[in-house]
Amino acid sequence: MLVNRTASKAIGESLDIVNAIPSTSKFSIRGTDDYSELVNSTVVVIAASTETYLTDRTENMASQVTMIKEIAKNIQRYCPSTIVLLISNPLDVLTYFFQKESRFSRYKVIGVASSLDASRFRYFISEKFSVPQISIADALVLGEHGDSMVPVFSRCFVDGTPLLSMLDNDERDLIIDAVRNYWKTLRNYKSRSQFGIAKNSYDVIDAIISKKEISVPASVVLDGEYGETNVSMGVPVKINQNGIIEIQKIELDKFEQNSLKISAHTIRINIQSV
Ligand code: 2OP
Repeated sequence: MLVNRTASKAIGESLDIVNAIPSTSKFSIRGTDDYSELVNSTVVVIAASTETYLTDRTENMASQVTMIKEIAKNIQRYCPSTIVLLISNPLDVLTYFFQKESRFSRYKVIGVASSLDASRFRYFISEKFSVPQISIADALVLGEHGDSMVPVFSRCFVDGTPLLSMLDNDERDLIIDAVRNYWKTLRNYKSRSQFGIAKNSYDVIDAIISKKEISVPASVVLDGEYGETNVSMGVPVKINQNGIIEIQKIELDKFEQNSLKISAHTIRINIQSV
């Protein structure tokens, strides 16, 4: 079910997407502006935006927060047992406000974006060392889906060699900047990113509906994990058909610990500013 404030947009998109459904599928697609059609949904993915942003994901934060509170009320009303994936920006701020407004368990409100950032981190490592992505283990990105995101170098290996032993600090900082600015580069060449977030969302949806367990970084409201409260940010989690089943505590080096604190602080300031 596609829901949009403009019914004709939802109907138009559904008429296009429905042609991509394989003949063996049990599913169909319809478009509507009526939230009541979401009743009994297993998963709801929120990709809504009030307007386009050009230079910063927080650009339309006030109107996005107003919008997400409205959506949260509707989801709460029509499918209170669903698992919610958020992919709208500013991702962490909206994940936080959705969870607070809906009063859903924090394990059922999942901000999907750090796994996209991790795909980008992996891509840059593969380009730098001319290795296929399969050679790269544990390229993780945590924290804000924004300018303070934290690529985790200390746990990453390339063909069994620690990534940090293959880079000096300047090379590391160049990769951090490239991962953080990836979306702006992409936006300068085409409009918004689509395929990366689609695949990373698909993986989470598939874990939920196919009852599989996956480990990915995702944004979740924290209650003391990583020393943080009153914030949602990307941390490593396990997900299955019940939503998030575990927030994993992993070791980070001092530089990464400090960067993650700064990232949490950045998100919290944004939350408090709304
Ligand atoms: C992205 O990272 C803009 O958040 C979007 O592609």
